[in-house]
Amino acid sequence: MNNDVIEKTRAFAQSFFEDEGSGHDWWHVYRVWQTAKHLASEEGADSTIVQVAALLHDVSDWKLHGGDEQKGLQKIRQLLADDLEPAVIDKICDIISKISYKGAGVKAAPMDSLEGRVVQDADRLDAIGALGIARAFAYGGHKGRLIYHPEYKPEMHDSFEAYKNNSGPSINHFYEKLLLLKDRMNTATGKKIAEQRHQFMEQYLEQFFKEWHGES
Ligand code: ADP
Ligand code: NI
Repeated sequence: MNNDVIEKTRAFAQSFFEDEGSGHDWWHVYRVWQTAKHLASEEGADSTIVQVAALLHDVSDWKLHGGDEQKGLQKIRQLLADDLEPAVIDKICDIISKISYKGAGVKAAPMDSLEGRVVQDADRLDAIGALGIARAFAYGGHKGRLIYHPEYKPEMHDSFEAYKNNSGPSINHFYEKLLLLKDRMNTATGKKIAEQRHQFMEQYLEQFFKEWHGES
């Protein structure tokens, strides 16, 4: 029965995200799903809850549905109603509603469950490293942003509103989010993977600025 709900959720998520061009495409969801599965087995979390939450984690994202988070959560409840207990569906919806990044200077709502901490780590791991770099520039291009501008400084957003309204160059996003994620990881396994992906981004930025100044 659990395999059925995972397969049903996968099919739903794949068709929901297939054509998304802002970095929330199906393959982002696929990678988060795979990483979450790995973290769940390392950390001893419930695999069904983790997999379903990972597959649906971006369905209620504030950047989709014209920003109506509740609409996404309703869709999720409908999808799972015949397959999972109400308490399990509540837990999955709680994870999904708390997962997203709210800004550089904003303290995120704590993830109460191990399953939530695992899915959040998997999502954060896909925002850093080589894939994170690719996604930041894909998102910036999608929004018509500059790669970099020496006079536009990174912002330490003090509210979720400030983060949402930000329109700076893509390189700023490294300082506003990507380089901060390593220290916000929840699980030991997630921290270890983040460490290595973080180092890769540091190297990338060093090379970027050398090339920017014609030094390399
Ligand atoms: P997720 O939902 O996967 O946690 P987000 O919704 O915050 O991630 O953003 C989707 C992708 O776009 C991520 O890789 C993120 O880092 C990137 N992104 C978000 N905001 C910006 C921005 N202002 N500039 C560049 N990339 C961004
Ligand atoms: Ni995501």
